Amino acid sequence: MIAGRGGSVRLRRAEAADCAFVWNVNNEPSVRAQSIRSAPIPFEDHAAWFARKLADANALLWVAEAPEAVGVVRCDKAAAGAEISLALTPGARGRGLGAAMIAAASAAAAEALGVSVVVALVRPENQASLRAFARAGFSPAGREAREGVALERLEWRGPA
Ligand SMILES: CC(C)(COP(=O)(O)OP(=O)(O)OC[C@H]1O[C@@H](n2cnc3c(N)ncnc32)[C@H](O)[C@@H]1OP(=O)(O)O)[C@@H](O)C(=O)NCCC(=O)NCCS
Repeated sequence: MIAGRGGSVRLRRAEAADCAFVWNVNNEPSVRAQSIRSAPIPFEDHAAWFARKLADANALLWVAEAPEAVGVVRCDKAAAGAEISLALTPGARGRGLGAAMIAAASAAAAEALGVSVVVALVRPENQASLRAFARAGFSPAGREAREGVALERLEWRGPA
């Protein structure tokens, strides 16, 4: 259980029964708008992706509870370190839960995936995300293009 500014949030590993919740969170228009691929996600595509992620030892997917399910956070092992992404349901934003989720997931990913760096790639206009990552201890590390989208790179370094 991690305390955010506006309450506590708990991360639990996602399971098969969370498929529709995760789709709803990630398919919400304001979340698509901040993603690298902004098109809506067909449920069938999501279900196949979700099953792959649950089976992937290099991927960690959590549901955040406060105490009801309020969001999703994911860490994927990458070439150097792990990459993190997250989203909250619209009604759960603005309470500091995002920073608490980022801090908890980064520490857990560093340990479980055996990495010392966690990387976030954020659209430069996504101020809420940039500030949530900064509050969770991430530092700016330049710009990076992904699929033709210019993104801010932020890094967190855990215990070596
Ligand atoms: C990004 C996200 C996880 C942030 O979590 P959150 O708990 O809502 O974060 P908060 O509302 O506490 O905001 C964090 C900071 O951003 C600020 N902020 C919030 N909305 C803002 C806005 N529209 N413009 C500028 N600053 C904003 C807050 O004041 C806060 O600042 P502080 O830490 O200096 O006090 C959440 O907004 C979300 O799910 N967004 C949609 C999906 C998304 O963008 N995911 C990240 C992709 S990289």
